[in-house]
Amino acid sequence: LILCLDSCCSHTYVLNDEEKLGRVFDGIGGLSGGGATSRLLVNYAEPYRSQILDYLFKPNFGASLHILKVEIGGDAQTTDGTEPSHMHYENDENYFRGYEWWLMKEAKKRNPNITLIALPWAFPGWVGHGKNWPYDYPDITAAYVVNWVLGAKQYHDLDIQYIGIWNERSYNTKYIKVLRKMLDKVGLSDVGIIAADGDWSIAKSMIADLYLNDSVEVIGAHYPGTITVTDALKTQKKLWSSEDYSTFNDEVGGGCWARILNQNYVNGQMTATISWNLVASYYEDLPFGRDGLMTAEEPWSGNYVVESPIWITAHTTQFTQPGWTYLQTVGHLEQGGSYVALTDGKGNFTIVIETMTHDHSVCVRPPLSPFNVTSQNATFQLKGSLASIKDFQVWRSQFNFKTKKPSFFEKLAPLKVLNGSFTLHLAEDEVYTLTTITTGNKGSYPDPPPSAPFPKVYKDSFDVLNPPFSEAPDFADQTGVFEYYVNLTDPGPHVFTLRQVVTQRPVTWVADADQTISVIGDYQWQDLTITCDVFMETIKSGGVFIAARVDKGGGSVRSAKGVFFWVFADGTYKVTNDLAGQTVLAEGLSGTQAYGWYTLSLTVKGQYASGLLNGYPLWKNAVVLTPKNGWAAIGTHSYELAQFDNFAVIAEQ
Ligand code: GAL
Repeated sequence: LILCLDSCCSHTYVLNDEEKLGRVFDGIGGLSGGGATSRLLVNYAEPYRSQILDYLFKPNFGASLHILKVEIGGDAQTTDGTEPSHMHYENDENYFRGYEWWLMKEAKKRNPNITLIALPWAFPGWVGHGKNWPYDYPDITAAYVVNWVLGAKQYHDLDIQYIGIWNERSYNTKYIKVLRKMLDKVGLSDVGIIAADGDWSIAKSMIADLYLNDSVEVIGAHYPGTITVTDALKTQKKLWSSEDYSTFNDEVGGGCWARILNQNYVNGQMTATISWNLVASYYEDLPFGRDGLMTAEEPWSGNYVVESPIWITAHTTQFTQPGWTYLQTVGHLEQGGSYVALTDGKGNFTIVIETMTHDHSVCVRPPLSPFNVTSQNATFQLKGSLASIKDFQVWRSQFNFKTKKPSFFEKLAPLKVLNGSFTLHLAEDEVYTLTTITTGNKGSYPDPPPSAPFPKVYKDSFDVLNPPFSEAPDFADQTGVFEYYVNLTDPGPHVFTLRQVVTQRPVTWVADADQTISVIGDYQWQDLTITCDVFMETIKSGGVFIAARVDKGGGSVRSAKGVFFWVFADGTYKVTNDLAGQTVLAEGLSGTQAYGWYTLSLTVKGQYASGLLNGYPLWKNAVVLTPKNGWAAIGTHSYELAQFDNFAVIAEQ
């Protein structure tokens, strides 16, 4: 921080709160879901799980987020897995599935003022009456969503403030109006509708349709590249970047986040920005690995990493709150970069400056046009009530790409204001916060345990009387939903099981497989033995599998390859090289039927695989050339009920 005495070496920026102010700030947030992005977080042991939550939500500690957005689980694949619906079937309601309820409560515990938002990506099949479309019966879809909001209040005392339409898919004006009406009817008129979580095109429809305009409170656009469109401005509605970032969370990711947090307002008048995703808590080999504000993908070791986006977030979140107002005087710096300034109207004032260069702030999308940033001096002149500020707290991050020794969110000595102005020397790739707020704090915990691979010997008998979550640890459902189940009619030892419960193809968001599948373990696993007890619940056409070396999940799950050992309720077995079952490596008779338990065992070693049924060899030496490695998995032949018990893996490397 160098004072520049010679005024000609510095450009001057006036900050004035006397003239008309800018828009009201609505906050910075993180998105859990879209999909299953917090899957592994819930399986962390204490104290690590609480530490991670503190870095995300605790005020004056880390990212100190203002907004938490979650997916309304729809039983379908939504990027890194499926999230369970509160209504698997038309006559079914359960508000204790999945982990989003828990996450919202943990966030609220830390920050009672956090804004909660929810959005569906997919819907259970019955919502679409079997059609892959949620708008033919708008009352049904609206009731399904409103039930979720009511359930949040009734069972968890969570007030959802905003609700969305259908993530990055068509919106339907009739549906939006029906949803608005139904919310009002049940006393939820304070719940705002965000539309339409895609591009800005809904703005045009809103201008043309007064009722639609009245129904929508916020226009939410995704990955807007910091700009908006004239129609959106014309509506005079709140404009949000309701999903953004999705960038690998190394230092360039942090740079992307720093640039868009400022410039979404400077260029696009957007008053909230929400990161996809909140925390990278899914297997890194699934799509978009590590695109979270921090990384927590190893519940088995307890290791987590507080990445740069956490501290970049803190530069804004710790020094301004939803309800503060941007000044009109925000903008670009003469030699690249940007500044925003906000006031609480009660004498508090915060300036955030970023000087991220092009190559160090590229986000995943949209493409970033070239621009130049060079080191510069910037003089800020304070006018209006700001003129009485005598000094500022100063927080700085320096990315230091050259030395690769970044320093994030460092508290510097307070800055004295002389004659209502001050000058900063700004180098490239820096972020500064200058503020009257004195509660800023770089929170820390002792280092978590070191990183370690998934345990080579792993067992789960699912014998949990009162499981904290509906899903068993570390199973990452990729199609279908696998839940703890109590099978009271089982005459034998299989009372506590894991059950696949989705019985109809959902209204999908991507191309879910025609089979259900849940993956677990280490993507690097090659040679191993997987054992699992299986129980089909569909006579004749039922089928289940255990698998090794499964190479794909997420949106490409349909084309997953691996070694799949199937048994069917018609008395046959198969070994296939793919989930779709098109490449058959072996097949024959097994004598298997529905409503009986069988123990399957699959061993893969080098290029050979073999399988046991109830401990006896059923097939052997099937040749497996590819894939060379992948996760272990369980699943079913179709959307059908089936149970699993005593899952075990012994991996060699
Ligand atoms: C978004 C989507 C998210 C996630 C992300 C990955 O478009 O809404 O669910 O898929 O892309 O970049």
